[in-house]
Amino acid sequence: MGTPVYAFAPGVVKLFGEHAVVYGRPALAAAVSLGIHVEASRHPGDHVEIVPSGTHAEIGRVLLREGSMAAEPDAPSLRAAFRYVAHAVEVASREFGVRGGVRLAIRSDLPQGVGLATSAAVTAATLLALLGVAGHEPSREELARLTYRVEREVQGIASPMDSTVTCMGGTILIEPSGWTRARVGDMRLVLAIVPRTATTGDLVRRVRGLLEAHGDAVERVLDAIGAIVREAVRRVEEGDLEGVGRLMYMNHWLLSALGVGDGRADALVRSLGEAAYGAKISGAGGGGTVVILPRDVGAVMAIARALGFNAVEVDVDLQGARLM
Ligand code: MEV
Repeated sequence: MGTPVYAFAPGVVKLFGEHAVVYGRPALAAAVSLGIHVEASRHPGDHVEIVPSGTHAEIGRVLLREGSMAAEPDAPSLRAAFRYVAHAVEVASREFGVRGGVRLAIRSDLPQGVGLATSAAVTAATLLALLGVAGHEPSREELARLTYRVEREVQGIASPMDSTVTCMGGTILIEPSGWTRARVGDMRLVLAIVPRTATTGDLVRRVRGLLEAHGDAVERVLDAIGAIVREAVRRVEEGDLEGVGRLMYMNHWLLSALGVGDGRADALVRSLGEAAYGAKISGAGGGGTVVILPRDVGAVMAIARALGFNAVEVDVDLQGARLM
């Protein structure tokens, strides 16, 4: 059966600039210490078998054969959960001639659908493990290109932010001309999870609708977010946490101005007081994740939990998607 190949790809937290990045403004995002693990092994037969492992092991499996997908049990939610994986398999087959006879066991430490780039991370880890078992080791740049392609083809609209950061690791400034690393020391963050009320696609369309209805006003909000991102990079690199925190609050309320805010996230942001330097919605919005730059981690966790949110402390993952 050959030796199994293990790949890991980190989740991504948007520190500044989400939504505006779709319209050519810069954004700053970091890979985090939670992510997606994929184990690929050779398997009898000509199909690719996808099985969730860890806490979701019981939900079923998906079989891919010559472009068709069968879910056992045949639940739409199971097909939806693995659509990025299925498309990654198709791209690996198209571009590298990778054939079936492979089993992919997938485990996530990331809370799903809360703007932590689960789809980019599962795509990158799947591609890396699948290509690894077939004897290819793509460069990081190539992996990022393939991951972005899968995301765009599945989702219709996407910026390269999530795919770049999960593949490269660290804290990254995304601009229309490409990406650069921000020089950041240790940065601990707390992520509070707020159940989502809309999908990323819906929220991206909501901003597009606002832009179509109020072009000039919305362009100015996007410009203001761009100015915040550029200043934030400087403050982050200088280790000026007070300044970074103030900019996080500004970016949070500008996301509300774009119509993607959420009352529960606002209540948390307003309650943090002296416990945090700053906080903001992170990702597409409508709930999802609130990223908090803590002054006092224990106090932040206590406030988030008292308000009923799940909260986790994370570090920045410096390595990005990798074989283990
Ligand atoms: C979603 O996590 C971030 C958005 O900016 C969309 C994107 O960049 O593709 C809202």
